[in-house]
Amino acid sequence: MNADGRTRLHQTPEWAALAKHREQLGQVRLRELFAADPGRGTGWTLRAGDLHVDYSKHLVTDETLRLLRELAAATDVFGLRDAMFRGERINITEDRAVLHTALRAPRDAVIEVDGENVVPKVHAVLDKMAGFADRVRGGAWTGHTGKRIKNVVNVGIGGSDLGPAMAYEALRAFTDRSLTVRFVSNVDGADLHEAVRDLDPAETLFVIASKTFTTIETVTNATSARTWLLDALGDDAAVARHFVALSTNAEKVADFGIDTANMFEFWDWVGGRYSFDSAIGLSLMIAIGPDRFREMLDGFRIVDEHFRTAPAESNVPLLLGLLGVWYGDFLGAQSHAVLPYSHYLSKFTAYLQQLDMESNGKSVDREGNAVHWQTGPVVWGTPGTNGQHAYYQLIHQGTKLIPADFIGFARPVDELDDGLKAQHDLLMANFFAQTQALAFGKTPDEVRAEGVPEELVPHKTFRGDHPTTTILAAELTPSVLGQLVALYEHKVFVQGAIWNIDSFDQWGVELGKVLAKRVEPALTEGADVPGLDPSTAALVAAYRELRGR
Ligand code: F6P
Repeated sequence: MNADGRTRLHQTPEWAALAKHREQLGQVRLRELFAADPGRGTGWTLRAGDLHVDYSKHLVTDETLRLLRELAAATDVFGLRDAMFRGERINITEDRAVLHTALRAPRDAVIEVDGENVVPKVHAVLDKMAGFADRVRGGAWTGHTGKRIKNVVNVGIGGSDLGPAMAYEALRAFTDRSLTVRFVSNVDGADLHEAVRDLDPAETLFVIASKTFTTIETVTNATSARTWLLDALGDDAAVARHFVALSTNAEKVADFGIDTANMFEFWDWVGGRYSFDSAIGLSLMIAIGPDRFREMLDGFRIVDEHFRTAPAESNVPLLLGLLGVWYGDFLGAQSHAVLPYSHYLSKFTAYLQQLDMESNGKSVDREGNAVHWQTGPVVWGTPGTNGQHAYYQLIHQGTKLIPADFIGFARPVDELDDGLKAQHDLLMANFFAQTQALAFGKTPDEVRAEGVPEELVPHKTFRGDHPTTTILAAELTPSVLGQLVALYEHKVFVQGAIWNIDSFDQWGVELGKVLAKRVEPALTEGADVPGLDPSTAALVAAYRELRGR
């Protein structure tokens, strides 16, 4: 029993019903499910905004989905959803509201936190960002020497990097190609070095992105970037024209030496991994322009509204969340692959890794009790078709159950020339062929019928029954990107709600940060660090020797 009197998840009748159902189902064969229901291919599809979602190739029956929806009802997923949209403090361990949805609310919406409508503040920052982005893009905002800004370097890590970096790649075709936009995150000095080595400091704007403005990687890289700039321009006053900050922490921004007039604000109710549609998206907005950025926000809003209003039977984030619970908790899947068939989505899965794994990588419930059920999966994947020639072998014929999302588009981006556009059908032929092969495989008899010698039949047999979701949209536009991201945000939300975990804190990353600060003097000065375990102490000694200290 939980503190609030709720039965713990694994002791609910809905959980027990699913466990029993799983036993009764036994080995699910997709060939059989499709044979039994000829309408499955066309009927098992849903729409969220412009996203066409096919879930027919899943190891589930109508009964499975009904039982999963009952679990969602019993765990009051929609109740928590409504509390989130209302601005209640559902991030309990940090006592914060979770309101990334307010970042894309229309101007006339009213969303209150502690009795204050936050929507006007959101739009004031968006307008300020748009004004600044237009000045940079139009050449009105110049560097200290009067030169036009041609390079934008975003310095940030985690949510202050992955979102804007992913979206910049995704929307390359919509960017101002005369601007060079780069993203620096790693505290490895090589990252900043490679980002700036061929840039002219007089033409370079640094966008320092950090919610807290205390993150060691970002503060270190920002300090090095300032040194690089001042070494070239030789005047401290240059910082004001070449550095802007995106943060919730005006005090730390001012301490760093950035004029708070050049700071774009956001708020503690925006989680880092949910933040690229806030001020954290400034580099992206400079690249694609304010209008495209707003189109992206409109896309987020379309799926927010879908999640908020669609009934359980046709609610796509709910469905995807429930399928993940089915595979992770009842079929033993440990990971989830996200496989976009778009080169422009090359950073999409890396972005989702933080969104999903930092949110749902938890092992205590909201009351602090150890969970007795699986929580978030390992999320991984890279764009097709590259992965097909690398790790798809394991998905097809390995021993692990790996549910996968295939994301594809009907049209290539407009900018490609006709010859390259023609390649798109080949890309998508692979896309469809893979989900078919994964689902239906190839039986030994089919292999034999091809004249394969008997001793090779087991090697050439594909079991099939590898579950996939297919997400198809007409084209990768700013709006569609916003829709996709919101879809995954809400999917992650659904799973956290069912597992009764706090999807909005990230205490797990704190320990490493604290220890790194403690270990550093051991590396630099050979200081005796109390509490260093014998293995780490020996490694530090080896490092110092190799480093020549
Ligand atoms: O890695 C932990 C984390 O706190 C993330 O949640 C966050 O996105 C990242 O660090 C960066 O934090 P900040 O934006 O405060 O620099």
